Amino acid sequence: MSRVYNFSAGPAALPQDVLQQARDEMLDWESSGMSVMEMSHRGKEFTSIAAAAEADLRELMAIPENYKVLFLQGGASSQFAAIPMNLLRGKKRADYINTGSWSKKAIAEAKRFCDVNVAAETSMCTPSQDELNLNPDAAYVHYTPNETIQGVEFPYVPETGDVPLIADMSSTILSRPIDVSKFGMIYAGAQKNIGPAGLTVVIVREDLIGEAMPDTPTMFNYATMMDAGSMYNTPPTYGWYLAGLVFKWLKGNGGLQAIAKVNGRKAFKLYAYIDGSSFYSNPVATNSRSWMNVPFVLANSELDASFLAEAKEANLVTLKGHRSVGGMRASIYNAMPEEGVQALIDFMADFEKRNG
Ligand SMILES: Cc1ncc(COP(=O)(O)O)c(C=O)c1O
Repeated sequence: MSRVYNFSAGPAALPQDVLQQARDEMLDWESSGMSVMEMSHRGKEFTSIAAAAEADLRELMAIPENYKVLFLQGGASSQFAAIPMNLLRGKKRADYINTGSWSKKAIAEAKRFCDVNVAAETSMCTPSQDELNLNPDAAYVHYTPNETIQGVEFPYVPETGDVPLIADMSSTILSRPIDVSKFGMIYAGAQKNIGPAGLTVVIVREDLIGEAMPDTPTMFNYATMMDAGSMYNTPPTYGWYLAGLVFKWLKGNGGLQAIAKVNGRKAFKLYAYIDGSSFYSNPVATNSRSWMNVPFVLANSELDASFLAEAKEANLVTLKGHRSVGGMRASIYNAMPEEGVQALIDFMADFEKRNG
C-alpha cells in the first residue's frame, strides 16, 4: 500500500488510524455481525455510536449545555438558506461580513430571505473590529472565519454585542480551541476536519431555535431536527460514525490544545519557507493567513503544470489552487502530518533549485 500526502481542500485527507479502524470494523462492528452501514439508525448499536460522537465533540469543543448539536445533511451550502429561515426570527435584516468566495455564496442565498447589510468587504485580508459596520437591529451577524479558497482566516472573533454571531467554520472547526459561548451558531461541512462528505454539523444556541419562518421545509427546521435528535429521517449514519472515530482520534492525541500546537507549527513552517523565497509567494495579509489552507503562486506561472506533475511524482497530490484563483493551494488540515508539510517544503525547495 502506498499512501500519498493529499493536500486536497475537501473532501480531504482523513487520519490513517481512523481509516484503519474503519477497515477493521467494516464487516463486523463490535461483534454485531454487521457493518455500521447496514445498521438501523434507531437500533441500540447505532444510537450508541451517535451519542458517543456527540459527547466526544461536546468534550473536545467544550460546548456549553445550552447549545444543541445537530448532525445534518445538505452540506454547509444548505445552511446558507437554513440560517435565514431559522434565525431571522421575525426580523428583516442580517449583517454579513464578506471576506471571500464562501462569504459571497452565503450572502447570495441570504438575499432570497432578507435585506443583507454587508458589514465589511475585504480581499486577501480580514477587516478589523473597528471596520465592521454592524447594525444593532440585525437578526444576526454571519461571517466565514476561514475562507477555504483564498486562505484568509480571522485572527479574532468579532464582537457583536447582543446580536448572535453565526460562523461558517467548515474549514477551521477543530483546528484549535474556540470559545463556543461567543457564538449563536457554528456550522461546518464535515469533509475537511470532521469526516467524510455528506454530514454537516450544526452547533446552535437553544434559545435561538423555534422561530423559523412559517414556510420553512420540515427538513430545514432546526426545531424538527432538535426534537428528533437529528433523526427525523435517516441520518448519514456512516459519516456520523466516522466523525465519531475522528473525534476519538483527536481526544487520544491530546484534544484541540495539542492539535493547535501542531497546526501552528505546520503553518508557520510553510509560510516561513514561502516568505523566504523569491520563487514562491503568498498573497494574504500576514495577520489573516489561514492555518488550514495555504495558497501560493510561482513567480513564473508557466512552471505551474510541471510543478504539479513533479509534485505528484513525489507523492504530493491535489496542490492545484481553486479554479477561481489559480496558482497552488496546500490544505493542511488536522490529518496532514508534520512530515507531509516537511515533504512539501523539501519538494518546493528542490523544484526552486532546479528551475529558479
Ligand atoms: C468555508 C466553506 N463554506 C462552505 C462550503 C460548502 O460546503 P458544502 O460543499 O458542504 O456545501 C465550503 C466547501 O468547501 C467551505 O470551504
